Amino acid sequence: MSSKTEGQTEQAPVQQVQTEGKALEQAFERFARFSDPAAVAQLDLDASIAAQRELAEVRTSSLGKKSAWAATKKLIGRVGPEERPVVGQLVQEIENKILALADTIELNLKSHIEQERTARESIDVTLPGRRPPYGHRHPITLVRERIEDIFVALGYVIEDGREIETDFYNFTALNIPENHPARGEADTFYTQDGYALRSQTSTVQIHAMQRRGVPIRMIAPGRVFRRDTPDPTHNPMFYQVEGLCVDRGITMAHLKGTVTEFLRRMFGPDTVTRFRPSYFPFTEPSAEFDFSCFKCKGAGCRICKNSGWIELGGSGMVHPNVLRIVGVDPEVYSGFAFGLGIDRMCALMYELDDIRLLFENDVRFLEQFE
Ligand code: DAH
Repeated sequence: MSSKTEGQTEQAPVQQVQTEGKALEQAFERFARFSDPAAVAQLDLDASIAAQRELAEVRTSSLGKKSAWAATKKLIGRVGPEERPVVGQLVQEIENKILALADTIELNLKSHIEQERTARESIDVTLPGRRPPYGHRHPITLVRERIEDIFVALGYVIEDGREIETDFYNFTALNIPENHPARGEADTFYTQDGYALRSQTSTVQIHAMQRRGVPIRMIAPGRVFRRDTPDPTHNPMFYQVEGLCVDRGITMAHLKGTVTEFLRRMFGPDTVTRFRPSYFPFTEPSAEFDFSCFKCKGAGCRICKNSGWIELGGSGMVHPNVLRIVGVDPEVYSGFAFGLGIDRMCALMYELDDIRLLFENDVRFLEQFE
């Protein structure tokens, strides 16, 4: 009588090994094509890495300690001595074949991944470099720097004022009377706590004399603000440059000589300057100055509106009240001051039809200036 239970169909050990061997082959089947390096070469880096990981997983699940194959291998010890060499050899053959396949695939994937990685990281030194987009200085900055260079060469220091001012610096100290229209709500930006955005750079005259004392030679470029509706020639914010020279014995001749020299250096040695009597509260006497048109040399053109002259700024001898308010004795010291608009000068020099272009931050416009 057989020891086996009736009806149980147990496979012969050799058959069992063969069945498990087939299952093993099936488990690795989806990787089989990668034993050909050409098939691996079709994969991109991510797909190769994924295949490598999956292969390792299948290797563990189908050949590892807990796998059906590991259980099958235990048969070798359980079969009779005559069958043992046959079973053992079969197991070995199957396993060698599968391991060889897995190793080849593994190797193919690995070398392809390395290649792809190297290709991705390699630098082609023959490629032209990427040029960083260089910025351009703003046209107002270009003109401001030219003005600064000229005055620094003439022995002036550059002062930086503040843009938010008290009534004292913007008006009172500059001898601007209480009822002057410039103080009106409609002409200036006031803050709710009694400050104002400066409406002129003349404010810096006061700060500079208070801090440095006299004698002094300074220019102060900067932003000023006025309640203006923007149009081609007006903007509520614009740039001015203020000049101040105070010393013993300064006369109107020094003012004329300085402004004339400045304009010659700015617009060429044959530039002619003209002074016209005018009025400013902080200078006495006061004058506005014009210069001969740099384009037509005085003959008359579109830029100078056919007059041959371009109006540029205001100037005069510093009013004794202004000197007194900063503690300078007008009997000992005298000085001249002047102020002009940088934007206006910029618009003239670059022949801009609309001053607002300067503040729209359109790079297509701005990158034209160097
Ligand atoms: N601050 C004046 C303005 O904004 C310009 C000016 C005129 C400045 C005469 C001066 C000067 O220093 O002396 O219109």
